[in-house]
Amino acid sequence: MRMYDIIKKKRDGFELTKEEIEFFVEGYTKGDIPDYQISALLMAIFLNKMTKRETVDLTKAMLDSGDKIDLSNIEGIKVDKHSTGGVGDKTTLVLGPMVAACGLPVAKMSGRGLGHTGGTLDKLESIKGLRIELSKEEFTRNVNNINIAVCGQTGDIAPADKKLYALRDVTATVDNISLIASSIMSKKLAVGSDGIVLDVKVGSGAFMKDFDNAYKLAEEMVDIGNSMGRKTVAVISNMDEPLGYAVGNALEVKEAIETLRNNGPEDLVELCLTLGSHMLVIGNKAKYLDEAREKLVDVLESGKAYEKFIEFVEAQGGDVNYVKNTSLLPQAEYVLEVKSDEDGYVQSMNAEEVGKCALFLGAGRETKESEIDLSAGIVLAKKVDDKVSKGEVLAYVHSNDKGKGEEIVRRLKDIIKIGDKNKDEKKLIFTIV
Ligand code: URA
Repeated sequence: MRMYDIIKKKRDGFELTKEEIEFFVEGYTKGDIPDYQISALLMAIFLNKMTKRETVDLTKAMLDSGDKIDLSNIEGIKVDKHSTGGVGDKTTLVLGPMVAACGLPVAKMSGRGLGHTGGTLDKLESIKGLRIELSKEEFTRNVNNINIAVCGQTGDIAPADKKLYALRDVTATVDNISLIASSIMSKKLAVGSDGIVLDVKVGSGAFMKDFDNAYKLAEEMVDIGNSMGRKTVAVISNMDEPLGYAVGNALEVKEAIETLRNNGPEDLVELCLTLGSHMLVIGNKAKYLDEAREKLVDVLESGKAYEKFIEFVEAQGGDVNYVKNTSLLPQAEYVLEVKSDEDGYVQSMNAEEVGKCALFLGAGRETKESEIDLSAGIVLAKKVDDKVSKGEVLAYVHSNDKGKGEEIVRRLKDIIKIGDKNKDEKKLIFTIV
């Protein structure tokens, strides 16, 4: 097989065979095929697209390029959750204990934040002592004992995707549905769960800015998951404004704890109930979505989900006093107010811009190597459709650098648009695929 022929075939709009896909994925991972040939192929794929069959074969080839995480020592049906990334998305911190308290094992491998979106592992490190590097034995033992463990990715998962993604990033070939779907799913499928619930975000703070593309991505990922024997469902949810009120690591942990104490923001609670219901049904802990939702509401109202979070923190070496008394969590030196200059309603706030403000304050990473400031971030006081009066606080900026904080106060005034009442009601869940 020659790489030249594969590029030419795709350039001319033909479908690649499984063997051809395996050839270029393997060859590139090993370093036998140079960047310039793969770049040309990626552009041909970008322009001429891939069929569903090609996308599944690409996913399999990337999945097979690395390690797989065996969860067979964990008892019960394992259902994973994955979000395509958003701003203020602390869902895992709330949803994990909720479904674990309903009896579903949560064996979660999470990531760190990059760019304007945050990562669960960074957030968890706001709790003193909490370890996210667990041995395989400890991870398994914790899930078997208390139904929940969260750790960083171990092993070399989908190295082909790492190389291809880095190349796509510099060749303007990232935003192709097949390439995104296969990239995400090759990593998800490497963890041996029985089912997967995907939270596909759409809107200004998401990868997918419009519904049609989010739907296509969701459909493609669900097809890949199901075709590989995993029960897969996707929830398409709104990311036009941050989820909840808090953006930033310790601030989000505090909001997650409040939510587990049954005192959370409406959108975050609703998203957790929706995703959790699908997880419980796939995991055979409920027959119907309504029944699953009732169980989830019950663990929130009874305090069982909160207790589960405490158990989880304790099991991973964290200081539970940080959960019981959230004022112990890292706090920024300055808290500055963003005040409205006019009366009206919040019309919009670009979630990506809000995320970038948090990043500028130190809450996120510009590059993989950046250090983050766990205490920095933004807490909104108003959300889209809320009524505001002149002089009322729209948001609080938490910063350890007064100058940077003041700059973000100015930027947020521009980002949070005030005007007439929106005509259309805002939606959180668009559809289920
Ligand atoms: N996230 C991924 O992991 N891969 C993509 O291609 C896009 C987003």
